[in-house]
Amino acid sequence: MLITQISDCHIAWPPAEGADRLGDLQRCVDYVNGLDPQPDLVVHTGDIAHDGASIEYEKAAEKLKNIRTNLCVIPGNRDDRRKLRDAFSDRLPASCHEEFVQYLISTEELCVIMLDTMSTESNKGRLCRTRIDHLNGMLEEADGRPVAIFMHHPPFEIAVASVPFQFEDRANLAEFSGILSRHSNVQRIYCGHSHRTASGQIAGIAASTISSTAEDLRMDDPGRMQELWPSYQLAF
Ligand SMILES: [Fe+2]
Repeated sequence: MLITQISDCHIAWPPAEGADRLGDLQRCVDYVNGLDPQPDLVVHTGDIAHDGASIEYEKAAEKLKNIRTNLCVIPGNRDDRRKLRDAFSDRLPASCHEEFVQYLISTEELCVIMLDTMSTESNKGRLCRTRIDHLNGMLEEADGRPVAIFMHHPPFEIAVASVPFQFEDRANLAEFSGILSRHSNVQRIYCGHSHRTASGQIAGIAASTISSTAEDLRMDDPGRMQELWPSYQLAF
């Protein structure tokens, strides 16, 4: 199974000054559509809209709908969960949690879990009781098959705007870590949010972040930008 991750397109409307984020997203879509072989799945790991406005989702969806393969979306801290659901309702599986944008894509070879780490209290990550319980249910459904998890907030130490830790509280993250440590079939965790390529681990599982599709918001070493643009391929 081949998966392409993209993240943090931060579509703003009216457009952010000096930026061309819709153009960046168009170039990303063109790049993904040109991949040979085509990925089985494209996952956008959140911050689709910059200010959670309906018009921003309309503009983003206009571009993202042209992705030729299956597209999965999850919210980031800049997103509005309800508006995101409305804009991408045709892309969410029937099994999606009714409140949170959490779901399982299940194939014989791999289970892909989309986690909703958005908090309405802060721009940090959170997995409330409902989402933790739902995650446990999805892991049970995976029934030992290999699992890849996609989530916006990285569950490892990485500085974003000088803040070293991206979850609301460490006890919440420790609970997540405990669940992971009981499921040795979870193979890899993919995140956005940091706007740069970085890697870490949680419960001994490799986790990583990728750069933002929005060029003006990238935090990567400028010398590596072309090398990193705009996505990369994950093979299982
Ligand atoms: Fe972001």
